[in-house]
Amino acid sequence: MENNIVALLEKVNNEILASESTSHINEVRIKYIGRTGLLTNMLKELKNLPSQERPTVGKFLNEARITIENLISNKLAELIVYEQKKKEESELLDISLSLPSFKRGVLHPLSIVKSEIIDIFTGLGFSIEDGPEIELSKYNFELLNIPTDHPSRAFCDSFYISDNILLRTQTSGIQARVMEKTVPPIKIICPGKVYRPDDDATHSPMFQQIEGLYVDKNVSLADLKHILELFAKKFFTESTKVRFRPSYFPFTEPSVEVDLSCAICGGAGCSLCKGTGWLELLGAGVVNPIVLDNCGISSSIYNGYAFGIGIERATMVKYGIPDMRILFDGDVRYIDQFR
Ligand code: DAH
Repeated sequence: MENNIVALLEKVNNEILASESTSHINEVRIKYIGRTGLLTNMLKELKNLPSQERPTVGKFLNEARITIENLISNKLAELIVYEQKKKEESELLDISLSLPSFKRGVLHPLSIVKSEIIDIFTGLGFSIEDGPEIELSKYNFELLNIPTDHPSRAFCDSFYISDNILLRTQTSGIQARVMEKTVPPIKIICPGKVYRPDDDATHSPMFQQIEGLYVDKNVSLADLKHILELFAKKFFTESTKVRFRPSYFPFTEPSVEVDLSCAICGGAGCSLCKGTGWLELLGAGVVNPIVLDNCGISSSIYNGYAFGIGIERATMVKYGIPDMRILFDGDVRYIDQFR
């Protein structure tokens, strides 16, 4: 019996030493000293031994049991530490690993130019105003002195929703909305999308404008020229010049087309300016007194200037882009050049 116990102890010891996980060491515990474990069963057999052998064998068995318990709890403590360490190691972040590469987006050239123009004018004291893209013809046309028989009022030139509601064809309507509710001085820019049924290399059914309006006492065409010269120098270069050509808009009197000296050739003539040395950029003028009166501002006290810049046109001129449709293609290879 004693020999059996010694052999068993040795077996247990080897199994404990070979255990590599807490779950395995638990199996060893159940196998030998669990309720029906091998050593437990030997203890149960004690009663069948001759009475003189029982005390010595019993003592031996109990000592063996204590030895096994100690071996198991020591090994268990060791394995708990080991497993915790392994878990921590597996959760460790390797910050030296390089990330999969990803491409950072860039601003669209139209967004770049739009923010640039807004920055220039807000820097000159203009505040930003907004208006609805679905507009009443009252603001898009009537208050702006665009009579019913004006060509741009024909249905084919505008996207109408009903007789007197349309997708705005110009941001000029915002100036009427602002004038109607504001006592001058007014000094605003109104950026926004506008819609017209045109589609070719220099026109798109949707494009963006920035409207400018300054209304105060004693505002003149010279003030308009001054502010546009400041704009031109910041938008292009310090040496950029501004040229006014007579034009016609119903809401301004006099009206002008504004050209900037070509930023590429400096006025000598190149392919961007088609040899003229000038780039046509915007429309402007002195606010027609009829418009002021229409919007509740007395033209006998106040006057003002207004201008309208096409953002697509400004972007094409600034970057020498020949076809407006490139700007709407969404080709990331093209846009990426503006990084
Ligand atoms: N609304 C004009 C257009 O869409 C642009 C414009 C021209 C706006 C002259 C103005 C202006 O305020 O004074 O073509």
